[in-house]
Amino acid sequence: MITTLTETQIPQKQRPTIPSPQTRTEPPEARASGPAEPDLAGRSQRLFSRWKEAALHWAKPFPFACRQYEYSVISSVDDQGGAPTKTLVQKVLDAVQCAKDVDLSAITARLRKEPLFSPKEPLYPEIWPGEHYKLLAGFVESMRPRKVVEVGTYQGLSALALLARLPVASQLLTLDIVPWDEMRPTFLQETDFSDGRLRQVLGDLSQREFFAQFAPELSSCELLFIDAPKNVVFERTLLEFLETIPTSPNLLVVFDDIRQWNMLSIWRGIRRPKMDLTSFGHWSGTGVVEWNGCQPGTHAA
Ligand SMILES: C[S@@+](CC[C@H](N)C(=O)[O-])C[C@H]1O[C@@H](n2cnc3c(N)ncnc32)[C@H](O)[C@@H]1O
Repeated sequence: MITTLTETQIPQKQRPTIPSPQTRTEPPEARASGPAEPDLAGRSQRLFSRWKEAALHWAKPFPFACRQYEYSVISSVDDQGGAPTKTLVQKVLDAVQCAKDVDLSAITARLRKEPLFSPKEPLYPEIWPGEHYKLLAGFVESMRPRKVVEVGTYQGLSALALLARLPVASQLLTLDIVPWDEMRPTFLQETDFSDGRLRQVLGDLSQREFFAQFAPELSSCELLFIDAPKNVVFERTLLEFLETIPTSPNLLVVFDDIRQWNMLSIWRGIRRPKMDLTSFGHWSGTGVVEWNGCQPGTHAA
């Protein structure tokens, strides 16, 4: 069920603190960096970040009230490179078409068993657009990929959404640095692994040695969903490593949180055909890249 492809032990301090599921869009660096470090440098950095945020709120107060919000940037797209190809636009339309009819109520039912949520509260798998779960299932349904890789298992919600439409002969590998059964709560169950389609792999793809061990899986994967620490270094390193290996001609790479501050430069820097799908995915930004759609400058229109 859990495969460790590397001897690397994940130090306890790198393990994330686990927020309640409905607050999972808090700054990702906080999620991935673990419990508070006692050192002075860490504390002053956090203090400085809080001060910066307070100053920003003072200078640019939010123009409306809402449940959750973050500062971001809107920018022109014609000068960024990576215009989508017609193929990518079609794949997106197909995925959205499927997403609108996807039923994830079986996953929601698992969340409902948690006393954390009030009975009337809409839960993540059902929120669409706004959350990415139905869109992920839509991509699987429309593409019928033989292999899906997810980076960032967390409580298993996206793995369950991907699994919901995964063909019987396909595989879903979900990576994390924390074993799924150590997450509190987790929405995964032992039985999710019993037909062999789902496997968790422990390791950090920004570590060269682990990436090299895992590369054959990435080379044969057709849908890659990246939703890990969003600390810039991880994403940049993984993208650089991915450039060095052969990949499927059909590979789509879906990124979560592309409108979050940390992810803005990562997303902007991708020079392959890509589309921002935020209106059909997660409110904090969902983007998709046609990894081998190699016609830079070819616009869909
Ligand atoms: C935002 S959560 C994933 C949420 C999940 N994909 C969903 O949509 O329900 C991020 C996860 O990335 C994991 N993570 C952090 N750093 C990682 C790394 N270097 N490699 C793999 N996973 C990492 C964290 O442990 C956490 O479980």
